[in-house]
Amino acid sequence: MSAPKTMRDRPEVLLRCSALVRQWGGLIAVNRVSLDFRLGEVHAVIGTNGAGKSTLINMLSGEIEPSSGTIHLRSENITNWSQPRRAQAGLGRSYQRNTIFPGFSVLENCRLAAQSRTPKPWHWWESASRCAASLDAACQAAELAGLKDRLEQTAGLLSHGQKRQLEIAMCLATNPQVLLLDEPLAGMGAEETDRMLNLLKKLRKDHAILLVEHDMDAVFRIADQITVMVNGTVIASGEPQAVRQNADVQAAYLGGH
Ligand SMILES: Nc1ncnc2c1ncn2[C@@H]1O[C@H](COP(=O)(O)OP(=O)(O)O)[C@@H](O)[C@H]1O
Ligand SMILES: [Mg+2]
Repeated sequence: MSAPKTMRDRPEVLLRCSALVRQWGGLIAVNRVSLDFRLGEVHAVIGTNGAGKSTLINMLSGEIEPSSGTIHLRSENITNWSQPRRAQAGLGRSYQRNTIFPGFSVLENCRLAAQSRTPKPWHWWESASRCAASLDAACQAAELAGLKDRLEQTAGLLSHGQKRQLEIAMCLATNPQVLLLDEPLAGMGAEETDRMLNLLKKLRKDHAILLVEHDMDAVFRIADQITVMVNGTVIASGEPQAVRQNADVQAAYLGGH
């Protein structure tokens, strides 16, 4: 086994949460979770249904407020920032459920996402055809996500896998540094999964990626770091090999893996 990496070997932390807690009434959905998300790494968060994965992502993206704890983006304390402000600062996310506009083309979807990062997103209708910057960002994002040949296609008519690619493209169109991806592989066949994993490998270089995923084979194929949550608590976090061999993880979650 290789020696543990020293701090100096590790890439830069882009996003950090410290002792993050979310309670719903008496239920502690996320319990004092402290994690780092680093540039150039895919950090998978795994756990059974109800473990608190989506709640964690929602707190990081700013959709729900933490009950306590802090969130830093680079050196900035963003714990009290709104979701739009975080998006503008470089936090991009995709959702567990599809959020595309089905009647719009791939390019239009990407362009709306790109414009959501400009200071006056409600002016999109008057600037849509003129805003060269957002059009550029939209084209680049669609191309990066593997949808270059589908720019004019109606989003609702894309295959399931392509719709998920479009969600990533829409996230990329906002030019994020951190990608928060909630189950982007859900419902995908083997070929679509391969394509998405290749896309994430390509994106890893320039981003910190938080990947929530159920497919353990996919997770072990791509993750640089794995965190395992059970009932809101992190029971293990580290490099895949160490997590795979962790007795608590084996007992609680991985079974035969
Ligand atoms: N809006 C909410 N109100 C009350 N309880 C919630 C809410 N959202 C999530 N929960 C509860 O928090 C726990 C964690 O949920 P969630 O973060 O969605 O888990 P996961 O994404 O890991 O499946 C679950 O017990 C869930 O029922
Ligand atoms: Mg979830």
